[in-house]
Amino acid sequence: MDKLLITGGQRLSGELRISGAKNAALPILAATLLSEKPVSIGNVPHLHDITTTLELLGRMGVQFVVDEKMNIEVDSGTIANCEAPYELVRTMRASILVLGPLLARFGEARVSLPGGCAIGTRPVDIHLDGLSKMGADIRVEGGFIHARAKRLKGCRLVLEQVTVTGTENLLMAATLASGTTYIENAAKEPEVTDLAHFLNKLGARIKGIGTDILEIEGVEKLDTENLHYQIMPDRIETGTYLIAAAITGGRVKLKNARTDTLDAVLDKLSEAGADITTGTDWITLDMHGRKPKAVSVRTAPYPAFPTDMQAQFTALNAIAEGVGIITETVFENRYMHVQEMQRMGANIRLESNTAICTGVARLTGAPVMATDLRASASLVLAALAAEGQTLVDRIYHIDRGYDHIEEKLSQLGATIRRIPR
Ligand code: UD1
Repeated sequence: MDKLLITGGQRLSGELRISGAKNAALPILAATLLSEKPVSIGNVPHLHDITTTLELLGRMGVQFVVDEKMNIEVDSGTIANCEAPYELVRTMRASILVLGPLLARFGEARVSLPGGCAIGTRPVDIHLDGLSKMGADIRVEGGFIHARAKRLKGCRLVLEQVTVTGTENLLMAATLASGTTYIENAAKEPEVTDLAHFLNKLGARIKGIGTDILEIEGVEKLDTENLHYQIMPDRIETGTYLIAAAITGGRVKLKNARTDTLDAVLDKLSEAGADITTGTDWITLDMHGRKPKAVSVRTAPYPAFPTDMQAQFTALNAIAEGVGIITETVFENRYMHVQEMQRMGANIRLESNTAICTGVARLTGAPVMATDLRASASLVLAALAAEGQTLVDRIYHIDRGYDHIEEKLSQLGATIRRIPR
């Protein structure tokens, strides 16, 4: 397994281009299963999860062409089977996103049940319950979800909990249902909005985009010709590089960013003492060499502070001045980075879903283990601020969600090197 070797202590400075959003690209690629005509998707990030999604679609018989700029032309005109096998689903839970589109367009789907994952149990009961209410016959047998429906029927769905991929699955399914579907308590994450805009361009009739009540009038088919869609920029990648600058007292300009999706994160960075300037598609952060001040954050669904930025702010607090309290309300068990940071000298106390971080004067480099995607990113950030060398193991987690992370950090002046297995 590849590792990253990082020598901390450099003050980062420079410019970067933000990649397309992983969490928008995954549902949008799944949504191409709904289209009768080929579609072209641009600004797709170069990530392992994208490769997994393409492999998944390829197994079903979808044809695609990827060019050197990661524009992907997808043609799901010919589908050989409607199955998402275990060996792919277990490496990427988001594979569940093919369930709604397959069922809606082909009347059946067989998708391996994702099972538990490192950051909690993460069930898919809300996805399945919604599809049942739309008339699907759903059975779970032999570790697979078997879903069938001649044609899904529009209905009113009130989601028990805000779920991002759950909302996306039901939204995609509803586009081809008969009648109108209302999804209440829908997730409002910008990636859900990006998917909804894509679906409307494809011919869907979705109203209430960006709110927590989505109204979807089902159509017979989605068949827009020559559709090209650009994926939105990744707000979590943006936030992670802003912290890379903040944690090292540095300065960064991020281009191709979506400032309007980052309010909660930018507020907290300002509170930490960063000077932030924004334009429509760029953000600059300057710490002027100062140490950050500790900040307290509480994760919750958008537009509140994102759980996917929690670990990175834990790293920032680890070296900040003062005490910051982090409260995780979206996932249980999302503090695996804490133990690793403690090995680097961080002073963090865990009390159920709260992490109380008292900033230390300095962290020291150590061998650490990446455990999930955002936890891994937080270890890289801690390493950038630490004295000496840190070896981050199991970085396949990082490659799932960060496009060329070592090249981008090197571009900002970090001393970071990939060590192949
Ligand atoms: C998505 C994101 C992930 C992000 C998360 C929360 C993708 C590919 N991944 O994950 O990066 O951290 O949103 O913003 O977009 N839940 C249930 N039953 C369900 C579904 C969810 O109980 O059927 C619970 C989960 O266990 C969790 C909470 O709802 O506690 C939110 O999870 P959810 O929004 O579904 O996360 P994902 O969509 O898997």
